[in-house]
Amino acid sequence: MARWQLVLLFGLVLSASLHRVASEEAADADVDVEDAPASGEAEDEDYADTERAHLIVRKWFKEDQAVQGRNLTVNLEVYNAGNAAASDVKLTDSKAPEGFTIADGLTDASFAKIDVGSKVQHSYVLSVATATDMQAFEPARVSYAADADGEQQLTVSTVAYVEVLTPTQQLQNHLLTGGKYVSLGMLRTGRDWITASALLAVLAALLGGNSAYKSVTTARTNVRRKKALASLEKDE
Ligand SMILES: *[C@@H]1O[C@H](CO)[C@@H](O)[C@H](O)[C@H]1NC(C)=O
Repeated sequence: MARWQLVLLFGLVLSASLHRVASEEAADADVDVEDAPASGEAEDEDYADTERAHLIVRKWFKEDQAVQGRNLTVNLEVYNAGNAAASDVKLTDSKAPEGFTIADGLTDASFAKIDVGSKVQHSYVLSVATATDMQAFEPARVSYAADADGEQQLTVSTVAYVEVLTPTQQLQNHLLTGGKYVSLGMLRTGRDWITASALLAVLAALLGGNSAYKSVTTARTNVRRKKALASLEKDE
């Protein structure tokens, strides 16, 4: 394996691991906001012996990550956790953040009735244009008639988060998480591995100073070094 290929490969792996650390930090920072305490316990008591629908709305993505130039499917699920059917259910999703456009389907939907204990689903497809980094999608809103009197209720879904990658970053992630693929496909011999981990050590020294990065790569390098030595022994 040519030396320049190894340099390229490990450049990719390095930038992917830095990207990963950065985006995990971003996720940690964002997610705490979500779990606000449930409001209105007193209301629940008032309504305890009345027959009412109680809708719970969940919003999530089919894909684990959004990739620029690909599609991202938004899923919405409405579940009736109450003890009466909900009627006249209107689902309205918030506009996606900038950089996403609708490729297929509608953000809104209506359902005449959702029975006790049952759920309905609605999906639509976004195309990922220019978005980057971690993106927060505002909640969907649902209005419905909760009881026989047709009293209107409003509820909102969870906020949904997705990490947006460029196609190159997605490839890097594959390389990073698929150690086997890399080792079988690209680094065939123990000598390849030794060259690779030497290069990695040099790159790590050049980059120095980022402790999170170091602890990740040191563990990885140790594993790789062990594998390399084991396979070198087999080769000879
Ligand atoms: C995205 O979805 C649209 C509509 O379903 C489809 O026509 C298009 O081929 C999809 N694009 C990609 C890249 O999958």
